[in-house]
Amino acid sequence: MVGDIKHIHSYYSPNDLYNRIIEGLGKLGKDLSGVTLDDLQPVDEFHIRGDKATRELIKLAGFTPDMHILDVGCGIGGSTRRLAHETGCRVTGIDLSDAYIDTARRLTQLLKMQERVTFHATSALALPFADNSFDGVWSLQMNMNVEDKLAWLRETHRVLKPGGRAVLYEVCGNKNTPLHFPVPWAQDSSMSFLVPPAAFRELITAAGFEIAVWNDRTELARKAFADVQKPAGKPDLPVLGVYMLVGDDIQAKAYNLHRNLEEERVSLVETVALKS
Ligand SMILES: C[S@@+](CC[C@H](N)C(=O)[O-])C[C@H]1O[C@@H](n2cnc3c(N)ncnc32)[C@H](O)[C@@H]1O
Repeated sequence: MVGDIKHIHSYYSPNDLYNRIIEGLGKLGKDLSGVTLDDLQPVDEFHIRGDKATRELIKLAGFTPDMHILDVGCGIGGSTRRLAHETGCRVTGIDLSDAYIDTARRLTQLLKMQERVTFHATSALALPFADNSFDGVWSLQMNMNVEDKLAWLRETHRVLKPGGRAVLYEVCGNKNTPLHFPVPWAQDSSMSFLVPPAAFRELITAAGFEIAVWNDRTELARKAFADVQKPAGKPDLPVLGVYMLVGDDIQAKAYNLHRNLEEERVSLVETVALKS
């Protein structure tokens, strides 16, 4: 692995994740032979507005059952599986984190979706796929950890077939800096590389894409985090939650995201970018 992203890899490397999720499902009284996508949703959709956003993005993407889609930075594969389930597409997920990919594979097997949904542990900056391999690309909230955004976007463009589209749902910077840390994607500033929306747009175009859709989703994000309170005392964590992915300080991270949204330090965009 490239030396200077080791700390990002270790941030996304929880111990024994799959077994902790299985234990959580047991505590919630779920029968393992009948686990559903909805049962996993509190822990496996690690992006702002969770499954609600995933379903909106699926509509926006317009992917069809004959397509093979690449999910870049797929986490433990919640939206990867949802995308395959709702569209009938074949989806390949990649993520930097071996622990997430191991969990993604095992959860996919548990849901008996392994025929159509597969995973690889690799970096988004060096995809192990030939040029023009995928009909579409799907990437939800992973650019924040990527310093060389142009390299990531060029790599995304390279593996996409001509005529294909990339659906990106990404946190960007905003008018004010710096961020309050920690946030859900970073313990401190050494792991977070946000650019303002206008600069992000320029990078997408510089990588060779044409922007077909550009929606600012900051207001929806702000509303989703409007009621998050400053944590006090011992953390009050649910049985299943994204704290399992990035640590028990998730409430402080959510609170800082709330402040960063309110103080115009971060923004949220969704975009569809085309390869001609
Ligand atoms: C906030 S999570 C989002 C995960 C997933 N897209 C979802 O919505 O549930 C960010 C993900 O990006 C991954 N990531 C960060 N940098 C990456 C890189 N250079 N290559 C591949 N994945 C990366 C992390 O391991 C993590 O799983």
